[in-house]
Amino acid sequence: MEEKKKDIHWYPGHMTKAIRQMQEDIKLIDVVVEIVDARIPMSSKNPDIDTLAKGKSRILLLNKADLADEDQTEAWKTWYEGKGFLVAAINAKNGNGVRKIRDLVAEAAKEKRERDRKRGILNRPVRCMVAGIPNVGKSTFINSFAGRAVTKTGNTPGVTRGKQWIRLNKEVELLDTPGILWPKFESQTVAERIAFIGSIRDEVVNQRDLGIRFVNWIEGAYPGKLAAYYGIPQAEEAIALLSAIAEKRAALKKGGEPDFDRAAQMVLDDVKNGRLGRMTFDTVAEMTDGSEEA
Ligand code: G4P
Repeated sequence: MEEKKKDIHWYPGHMTKAIRQMQEDIKLIDVVVEIVDARIPMSSKNPDIDTLAKGKSRILLLNKADLADEDQTEAWKTWYEGKGFLVAAINAKNGNGVRKIRDLVAEAAKEKRERDRKRGILNRPVRCMVAGIPNVGKSTFINSFAGRAVTKTGNTPGVTRGKQWIRLNKEVELLDTPGILWPKFESQTVAERIAFIGSIRDEVVNQRDLGIRFVNWIEGAYPGKLAAYYGIPQAEEAIALLSAIAEKRAALKKGGEPDFDRAAQMVLDDVKNGRLGRMTFDTVAEMTDGSEEA
């Protein structure tokens, strides 16, 4: 059991079904709105979507920008724009940046509209679909984006059987169920980062190991941040820091020694919820062969 938890390879059966569903849905779509977590703009991006969404206009949203390092978010925006995406950094939870997405959709749909016009097709709404790995904020975004304009359109037999569309305005419709992709664990680092943001279920990963890896990571990336947040003395070793956190937060075992599991769980929970402040795990330089340019 312990062995199984060490490496993060886990593909639930319902994800295969979700992918199949998405392959079907995407046929009806003009614009794919892909959501990633701004703290891991590359690790939370499933590369399969590039194949699935081939030939579609693409929008990439860096969501939870409120939790990410602003400079890095800007760098990722530039990088993805260089790759041909229309990009925006947003906070789907409080709605920051969400209104502007309508302009991006209009821009993404320009070519389609032009094609339609040439073929004499007028007033056919642009159809969008939101996609991304679990927990990046797809549902939150759909609610925020649709806002009060939610008029669900019924099924059109033969074309959209079983599908519910949210009509945003005369020109845009949004599929009300997002396309869910399973994260791709391309390396242990990627898997770890997906776990840091809380996208993998807690039971799948050994929390103590993950906590230690997080402490090691943050000491490299933001030295001293942990000590400052928890009000503990700075230390070199991850285990010494966790031990001090356990004492500070009274996470102790019966005999009074530090409970590392609980301390790790607490730290990971604080990270997941952004309590340690803004941080970005994927940096453009590290994840893209050091080139800031696309
Ligand atoms: P999903 O459909 O992609 O699976 O994600 P969902 O919308 O369910 O969002 C997952 C969690 O992320 C939710 O928190 C949601 O509130 C939070 N979230 C979504 N967008 C943002 C954002 O831009 N910033 C921040 N800080 N959080 C965001 P939860 O823990 O499930 O619930 P709660 O915290 O809202 O109670």
